[in-house]
Amino acid sequence: MSYLSGKKILLGVTGGIAAYKTTYLVRLLVKAGATVKVVMTPASREFVTPLTLSTLSKNPVLSHFTNEEDENDTWNNHVDLGLWADYMIIAPVTANTMSKMVGGTIDNLLLAVYCSAKCPVFYAPAMDLDMYKHPSTQHNFKQLESYGNHMIPAGVGELASGLSGEGRMAEPEEIVSYVEDYISDKLPLKSKSALITAGPTYEPIDPVRFIGNHSSGKMGGALAMELAHLGAQVVLIMGPSHVITNHNNIDRQNVTTAQQMYDAVHKHIDSVDIAIFSAAVADYRPVNRADQKIKKSADTLSIELVKNPDILASVGAMKLRPFLVGFALETDNELDYAFAKAEKKNTDLLILNSLRDKGAGFKKDTNKITIIDRQKNVIPFDTKSKTEVAKDIINEIIKRTS
Ligand code: CTP
Repeated sequence: MSYLSGKKILLGVTGGIAAYKTTYLVRLLVKAGATVKVVMTPASREFVTPLTLSTLSKNPVLSHFTNEEDENDTWNNHVDLGLWADYMIIAPVTANTMSKMVGGTIDNLLLAVYCSAKCPVFYAPAMDLDMYKHPSTQHNFKQLESYGNHMIPAGVGELASGLSGEGRMAEPEEIVSYVEDYISDKLPLKSKSALITAGPTYEPIDPVRFIGNHSSGKMGGALAMELAHLGAQVVLIMGPSHVITNHNNIDRQNVTTAQQMYDAVHKHIDSVDIAIFSAAVADYRPVNRADQKIKKSADTLSIELVKNPDILASVGAMKLRPFLVGFALETDNELDYAFAKAEKKNTDLLILNSLRDKGAGFKKDTNKITIIDRQKNVIPFDTKSKTEVAKDIINEIIKRTS
């Protein structure tokens, strides 16, 4: 998943030949999960059609102060559009539009939206090499920078005039990565790394049977996605689970048994700043795994079990360890057991779930948690979606680690 996922992007298109590339730019932005609205200058409609851009963006394309296609002739509110956007990208921007942006001339909807936008504005100039080098253009770049706009520099290459040089609009992929880098640079966990255990573990009895539990991995998956969204590099050590965790910042390692989870944790634990143990690890495993399927014979069958390593406790006992977050699932005496667990496993935060709470438990999309910190503060939360719960947990981590 991209940092642009869920972001609202206003794309301004002006009248240059590079406008044809905005079809691809819109596709990339939509593919990255952004909502895209396009505002075109009247001149740009000669280079690329509003129909193409509205089809690709799945939103109406606006060019005028009033919507001439609408029977009611409604007004396209530039202020609302400017305030709607998380980011505005003007690509391509011509020398003409740039000089209007510098001078505050508003003679079309795009310029009105630009002047109303409070969000970061990026612009990708495109023009012939002599126009690009012209002192007035160079002066305008400086002016626009002084207004807080971000220039996505033009590249060097063959230009529409047939000449070759600087002035070619940055490629759509470059524009997308420029904005993604800008977003990621500002994220609160940009330079942090985290390890998460999640899901159940399966302890084999024979080739077809195992001891497991009902954990779905949803809570750990939500934590991984939220951490990644905030810029952290995440190692997600996941037991058997169907939960999807697609994000460039997530390195997912699928494991099956508690011992495999233990080994994977200790391979990575020295290099992370934060570790969250949300897995429902099987406490015991069969002493012997039968090589062949155990056949039904006697009326009773005993399977001898041996304790699995306690992964969280093993990290809690390390001399140098990351900021440590554990979970506790209890059915009774919740707070007493949770305090004891936090102490025994040496956690910085313990996330308590009680199976007595209706909104908490395995396989659900919601959770209800109480957080216990090192100073024994007890912080209760309402029942929320697991994504919202993940945000609450991460907020508490950020407060204590930054
Ligand atoms: N945990 C772990 N390794 C284990 C068992 C538990 O890392 N072998 C972690 C869990 O991921 C969780 C915390 O320890 O963060 C508490 O797990 P929980 O099952 O509530 O507690 P247990 O230690 O197993 O104790 P009990 O089952 O007796 O309540």
